[in-house]
Amino acid sequence: MSAENPIRTTQADTSPGMIDLAIGHPSPSLLPLEVIRRAAEQRLATDFTPYLQYGYEPGDGIFRTALADFLSRHYGRQAGEGDLFVSGGASQALDLFCTVYTKPGDVVFVEEPTYFLALRIFQDHRLRIVSLPADEKGLIIEALEQQLESLRPVILYTVPTHQNPSGATLPPDRRRRLVELSRERDFLIVADEVYHLLTYGEQAPPPLASFLSEGTVLSLGSFSKILAPGLRLGWVQASPPLLRPLAESGMLDSGGGLNPFTSALVLSAIQAGMLDAHLEQLRREYGRRLQAMKAAIDDHLADRVEFSPPSGGFFFWLRLTDGRDSAILLKAAKKSGTSFVPGSAFSANRRLRDRLRLSFSYHPPSALQAGVQRLAESLSRNQPIV
Ligand SMILES: Cc1ncc(COP(=O)(O)O)c(C=O)c1O
Repeated sequence: MSAENPIRTTQADTSPGMIDLAIGHPSPSLLPLEVIRRAAEQRLATDFTPYLQYGYEPGDGIFRTALADFLSRHYGRQAGEGDLFVSGGASQALDLFCTVYTKPGDVVFVEEPTYFLALRIFQDHRLRIVSLPADEKGLIIEALEQQLESLRPVILYTVPTHQNPSGATLPPDRRRRLVELSRERDFLIVADEVYHLLTYGEQAPPPLASFLSEGTVLSLGSFSKILAPGLRLGWVQASPPLLRPLAESGMLDSGGGLNPFTSALVLSAIQAGMLDAHLEQLRREYGRRLQAMKAAIDDHLADRVEFSPPSGGFFFWLRLTDGRDSAILLKAAKKSGTSFVPGSAFSANRRLRDRLRLSFSYHPPSALQAGVQRLAESLSRNQPIV
């Protein structure tokens, strides 16, 4: 291993002394080693071996039954095992969905801002990405209606709750109208609901997974944010006719159901109540971090940014009131020992240049406060040219 080429293990590479507010990953200190250790001990103590076999394509029925029970309790709506497909995480589910349901040139509607790495997946599939404006409550339905006059999307991709990056949560009336439109105008809604269970303030509206019976909604969930991303495990919730093409895809026909061994470990964590307990701990700690970052922004950036505080998820979305380009500010911020993601990353058209995303998930409260202070210093040093 050389200094230039260190051997790396994780996706986010943090340099010493840097408080990187760009990283939207779970906190290293909250990765549940003890839960996974105990779950593995329980699982490996039995003589049950089918989880070492090629798995049933939609996912192990025992695991899906336990997951349905977990979701019924946490979503407040009865979930059924037949409405679940086990994925290798939300990203993998989105990619498989595009393979099965789209062809190059098809139109996909996304929000602006949107989860930037979903854009990469749509680009991989050569889809035509059309951005729809959003406000502090999420997708603007009138703008969607207007676009539907001239375009026929195959899918609309949305992060309806605690959005990445804006933190916005779509209100119930907009959710209802969105689903009505999908039926009237014949498109599928891919609802990326990976932050739905990470609510720290007032309760979020029912997930879009509550509209499965309409037959146009696929809801993506993931254990990445509520347990550990390294598990690469998630789920798709949809009506059985929508799930069937995923389970019948060539990839699953060849390789069998996704991640049977990991599912077996997470099954133990669910059955022993460890997932519930961990989720409680995450809500408490991330809630504390959210408040710490909000206080730091109020203290150090109040006259320079506008924002709507989130009530869950991992992110603050700031607008620089002097209209400067956050990509230019980023260079100054890095010199000050902090970082963020510039707003243009979240726009298919590289707009939103006066916005930036700060994450409060990765660092503890004291580091969040110091990081925001460093950002304020870099804003003072990097005055815009007028
Ligand atoms: C909105 C959104 N969807 C999906 C993902 C990735 O999820 P997974 O790890 O399940 O692939 C992320 C991670 O940052 C995200 O923010």
